[in-house]
Amino acid sequence: MATKMWYVEPVWQTMLPTMGGEAIKEVYGHWFAPRMIFTGRMGATALSMLVAFMRERRKAFILTDTVVERHARSVAKDFQEASFQTTIWNEAAPEPPVTLAQKCADAMTKFEPDLIVAVGGGSTIDLAKAAWILYELPGYDLKAVNPTIPMGLRKKALLAAYPTTSGTGSEVTWASILTDDSVTPPVKIALSSAEIVPDFAVLVPEFTVGMPPKITAGTGLDALAHSVDGYLTCYDTDICDALAIKSIELVFKFLPRAYKEPNDTEARYRMQMAATIAGLAFGNSQCALTHSLGHAVGKVFGIHHGVAVGIFIPYSIQYHSRASKKYVQLAKKIGIEAKDEAECLQKLVNRFKQFLLSFKVPYALKEHGITNERWQKNLADVARYSSEDVCTGASPRPTSIIDIKKILEYAYEGKDIDF
Ligand SMILES: [Fe+2]
Repeated sequence: MATKMWYVEPVWQTMLPTMGGEAIKEVYGHWFAPRMIFTGRMGATALSMLVAFMRERRKAFILTDTVVERHARSVAKDFQEASFQTTIWNEAAPEPPVTLAQKCADAMTKFEPDLIVAVGGGSTIDLAKAAWILYELPGYDLKAVNPTIPMGLRKKALLAAYPTTSGTGSEVTWASILTDDSVTPPVKIALSSAEIVPDFAVLVPEFTVGMPPKITAGTGLDALAHSVDGYLTCYDTDICDALAIKSIELVFKFLPRAYKEPNDTEARYRMQMAATIAGLAFGNSQCALTHSLGHAVGKVFGIHHGVAVGIFIPYSIQYHSRASKKYVQLAKKIGIEAKDEAECLQKLVNRFKQFLLSFKVPYALKEHGITNERWQKNLADVARYSSEDVCTGASPRPTSIIDIKKILEYAYEGKDIDF
């Protein structure tokens, strides 16, 4: 296996921050999305019938975990009624390690599906993408997955994704986040390729009804971070801007409802839409600092992904504001009025801080059970992991490891970024 991901190589670390921005927009852009998105229980049934006409052998390999396996069984029933032979593999796990992807691919190889179906949260869908690569291309080095290198997937199977949380957007994105547990401390790695965008995404609100408030908040904050990053990144486009703003509106309106009332079906439906819309936005304009900082902090200190990236929304807005005035547009879109840019920035940042606190998520990292000793011991690793993360290159402000370390120190104390 390659020792490093492509985006850690010096040439890409230099190029990534220069590949976005106004000068590039007129000569390069892209739009990656599933070929079909269905919503609702009837939409799920319609999809299975439609896909039956696209597959010859009609063998569906359904990945899930034991927590949401009941939903996988209902999806399996749809495919069985559409004349598919199905099998359920229930060993998906959070933050999947590379070794689990191989184990899943081995199970696929035994069953020989022509359709892979992921039913679960973002980790399950990400695992399906990675295992799909290894099923199609046995022995492929996952660390060699690179958006510039074609792999030639879909010779064996297509991929359908049914999210059971509302946050990651993985059902529509070209990324798969895995854990490389061959290093200490383990690090998150991002596989990115247009070829791993699922062919079909199916949003069934009932699959998210009853989700506990803590997970509802964490996954919802993940969607919010995707939208804010997707709006402020240097890879932004007019298409992604429209999507990001809509998603932010939906999260502000419906996440508090879903959090307070887990069985509010309208709130659940709207949050599923918000997460998928955010996925389409950041999937095409990329995530920036909320995610490079959140990935490293979340992994090293064991903080839920959505909470970790949500914490960094206020800090990244403040940091980005020195390079781009786009935060002013964001503030206007969510109804903030201010007499000047300084007040606008402060009000915008306060809006996000208050939103975090309303879900009992403190924005100071030290209030997440991280002792000063543990923080100091791991700070250098966290800063390096953040600096090398592929999302850092999408920041609208060139971001050195020195600045990253400083942002982390401010975030630990809960201080406003003033540099
Ligand atoms: Fe995320």
